[in-house]
Amino acid sequence: MKTVLLIIIIIFFTGILEAQTIWLDELDLTSMQCGWGTPEANKSVEGNPLTLAGQKFERGVGTHAVSTLLLNLDGKGKQFTAFVGLDDEVVDGNGSVKFFVVGDKKILWESPVMKKGDKPEKVNLNLDGIKLLGLLVGDADDWIDYDHADWCDAKIEFTSKRTPDELVVKTAIEPYILTPKPSDSPKINGAKVFGVRPGNPFLYTIAATGKRPMTFSAENLADGLSLDEASGIITGQIMKAGERNVTLIAKNEIGDAKRELRIKVGNQISLTPPMGWNSWNCWACAVDDAKVRESADAMVSSGLINYGWTYINIDDCWEIKPDAKEPELQGELRDKNGMINTNKKFPDMKALADYVHGKGLKLGIYSGPGPLTCAGFTASYQYEFQDAQRYADWGIDYLKYDWCSYSKIAKDRSLPELKKPYQVMRDALSKVPRDIVYSLCQYGMGKVWEWGEEVGGNCWRTTGDITDTWSSMSGIGFNQAGHEKYAGPGHWNDPDMLVVGLVGWGPQLHPSNLTPDEQYTHISLWSLLCSPLLIGADMSRLDDFTLNLLTNDEVIEINQDPLGVQARRIYDEDGKQIWMKEMEDGSKAVGLFYPDLGEKKEPEKYFNWGEKKSAKIILKGNDLGISSKFTVRDVWRQKDLGVFENVFETEVPYHGVVLIRLAEAK
Ligand code: GAL
Repeated sequence: MKTVLLIIIIIFFTGILEAQTIWLDELDLTSMQCGWGTPEANKSVEGNPLTLAGQKFERGVGTHAVSTLLLNLDGKGKQFTAFVGLDDEVVDGNGSVKFFVVGDKKILWESPVMKKGDKPEKVNLNLDGIKLLGLLVGDADDWIDYDHADWCDAKIEFTSKRTPDELVVKTAIEPYILTPKPSDSPKINGAKVFGVRPGNPFLYTIAATGKRPMTFSAENLADGLSLDEASGIITGQIMKAGERNVTLIAKNEIGDAKRELRIKVGNQISLTPPMGWNSWNCWACAVDDAKVRESADAMVSSGLINYGWTYINIDDCWEIKPDAKEPELQGELRDKNGMINTNKKFPDMKALADYVHGKGLKLGIYSGPGPLTCAGFTASYQYEFQDAQRYADWGIDYLKYDWCSYSKIAKDRSLPELKKPYQVMRDALSKVPRDIVYSLCQYGMGKVWEWGEEVGGNCWRTTGDITDTWSSMSGIGFNQAGHEKYAGPGHWNDPDMLVVGLVGWGPQLHPSNLTPDEQYTHISLWSLLCSPLLIGADMSRLDDFTLNLLTNDEVIEINQDPLGVQARRIYDEDGKQIWMKEMEDGSKAVGLFYPDLGEKKEPEKYFNWGEKKSAKIILKGNDLGISSKFTVRDVWRQKDLGVFENVFETEVPYHGVVLIRLAEAK
């Protein structure tokens, strides 16, 4: 009897010793999705002490709606406790969030809608039998602006030993590569039509895959242009307006490839959507000269240049910052002639531009119509002409012009006030002898797509900032329906930059939080939408999966099609969508998507509970205006699927896509 009692006592105490507590801030937070910024352990999303209604918390996690974290409790959880609320760091009167705790697809707890200053809500939940636990911060149905949300003193008690590593559920689906390797024979890619203004510097690099060494030549090269045989870089200037048809030739030991390039010398540039890289989504203000050079180097060494990727764009933070604490950002904002200065991280912008041009690439820069940029650096207000001149002197090829502090200058949000500053910079750019792509960034205010072309924009952001979460990317991408009538050669809708590869708004980076299927959706949709394709990743560390996303010549061809017709949505039911884009050769590019967005998303739908879901999508030739038989090609796999009569059906992965190209069968 005594022995039995002893055993029971031993089991009881071992149980207690094994039972343990894991704090949320001990977990690897890279799998936590966050609608803006990066989740922080023991800090708010902006790096301040966690503070709710004046009360500071030592421990917890600061995040931003929409935010999700899925934890594998394996039925061993006992209790979840936390205090939640909107962090005091947001501007008064802004932001509202709603917290949910979801266990095995059921809502276990939800907060009321919470605003700044609300008393923290206490969560105290029994976790008996729960296998998967989801923590969600929703936007309380009013968009995610200022939704800085904190899980304070958040911890889980367990009935037996668990380690923080076992708890975190990583992306369920492994990356899988669809893009076939390019052939060794030469193949010419990139834009088939190119616009330039008479007399302005000309730069076009022949993009071609195939075994190196390769030599390049051209038939009927326009007067004033010369071609470098080894690199395929064409430079010079054409004085007279008009259209020139040039035959480009790429040759290696296996054979040669020929392709027509239509050069249109006139008033329009950006005849196909700009393709390149922008520093913001990876480095944000951690960008400097070395990182820009490194990105240009990687554009070449990764082979991306062989697919038409061209621009290397510096976003915010290259200018002097008034009142900066960091010595490298301090200095005179402008010289005595009012010409803008760079900060010490960019010691010589002209030399940087020369370096980038030397590789056959182009350099972009960033400013705004207000006195300050969004990150508080010097912007162009009242110096627009000097700035345009400066950019031209340096050799800048692309300007992103970001509204931000112009809010304080504009009298109101009427259309004339929204247009005015963009018109001013347009006039300035038009006076300098250089082709500078003009990218308007004002987040879609006043339906900019309706007048972006009128103020001379080559592209205009249609949305707020993208982040690497499904809700952000899908929310933006699938919301572009109806904008198609405003896009065309020289003027494109811009649903923001790509969130693939290593991103993070610097200096810390993480792999994109989008699943592989979500990333295929992202690239397919942006290509169909004729969106500018600006890679937001660390270029020096592109993994095979990301390269596979960015080097599919048939996908890029859809984006770069000379007709420049943006895809429209032709079907939207039961969580399935079909988007169709007319191509110059009469064929149609079609994206069959299964985003499963639904009217209003239920909390459990934010999590991937580990089930493989897919949907059958049926496409009818009639819906595309095709009455005869048609051929179908799988674009990602670059495989012909056969001839079909009126109906094509396929299985589409959850949050994924099947991208096809259809043509009438001969
Ligand atoms: C935002 C803009 C971002 C980035 C940032 C720089 O307003 O939308 O794309 O440029 O400013 O501060």
